Amino acid sequence: MPTAPSEWSPSQSELSGKTILVTGASEGIGRAASLAYAGHGAEVLLLSRNEERLEALYDEIVALGAPEPAILPMDLAKATHDDFVALAGSLSEALPKLDGLLHNASLLGDRKPIAQTRAATWHDVMQVNVNAGFMLTQTLLPLLDQAPSASIVFTSSGVGRTGRAYWGSYAVSKFATEGLMQVLADELGATSTIRVNSLNPGAVNTAMRRSAYPAEPPTTNPSPEDIIHEWVYLMSDASAQLNGEAMSAQ
Ligand SMILES: NC(=O)c1ccc[n+]([C@@H]2O[C@H](COP(=O)([O-])OP(=O)(O)OC[C@H]3O[C@@H](n4cnc5c(N)ncnc54)[C@H](OP(=O)(O)O)[C@@H]3O)[C@@H](O)[C@H]2O)c1
Repeated sequence: MPTAPSEWSPSQSELSGKTILVTGASEGIGRAASLAYAGHGAEVLLLSRNEERLEALYDEIVALGAPEPAILPMDLAKATHDDFVALAGSLSEALPKLDGLLHNASLLGDRKPIAQTRAATWHDVMQVNVNAGFMLTQTLLPLLDQAPSASIVFTSSGVGRTGRAYWGSYAVSKFATEGLMQVLADELGATSTIRVNSLNPGAVNTAMRRSAYPAEPPTTNPSPEDIIHEWVYLMSDASAQLNGEAMSAQ
């Protein structure tokens, strides 16, 4: 039985020697996870669109004295399969292995009834939240396979586990994310050293939450750095035996 996250606390060097790619690293939960991974000794590969924010995060990580991160500017809404093949190719030339992959970048899309959801928004949300996750995972599997114990974490949501009115494409994309996690976990669990799990953050004070609930006082919810324990746990060897689990951080 793996140690439960509530009974576990990471050492300062918990993730040292590991390389972890984080999508949506520039802000919110992805930024906090990247800082936590680096703070525990991991080399972090920071992927998202906003280069200025990624550079500021790079500086913050270097100032911590953590391993030097790398910046991977990429727009997941526009990236083609060839772009993911090229990214995986250049990472394979630079790295002997990849120990962790946190799928965190997501679009919220329209908060409207399905009847009024724009088709273009639906496509964008599926592209970023589902298709990009599939292509990035598929192209990085060979590098993840080189790690002694690799972890893929998909970021879910409460509305991806029970459908809710007006959450449209976002909710459906999170159901698909859970499905991708389960299928991959079943395929890889018995035959490889790669584990695959999903994590629902719960309500967290980020730009996405503030945009979904504009009338809610932002301080109602915890900050990303206050809830980041499970993200570290899932990338650490403490969770090495955990596969196919739909976890919740709160
Ligand atoms: N906050 C919550 O209450 C909550 C609750 C449940 C689930 N979640 C999930 O938690 C994860 C993180 O959410 P968050 O609240 O931290 O969101 P956020 O503050 O809006 O941050 C989203 C991140 O995704 C990146 N991103 C968006 N579109 C992208 C694209 N086309 N290409 C590359 N990167 C892109 C953004 O960076 P750039 O703008 O630099 O590209 C940003 O770093 C998401 O999967 C979300 O669904 C959040």
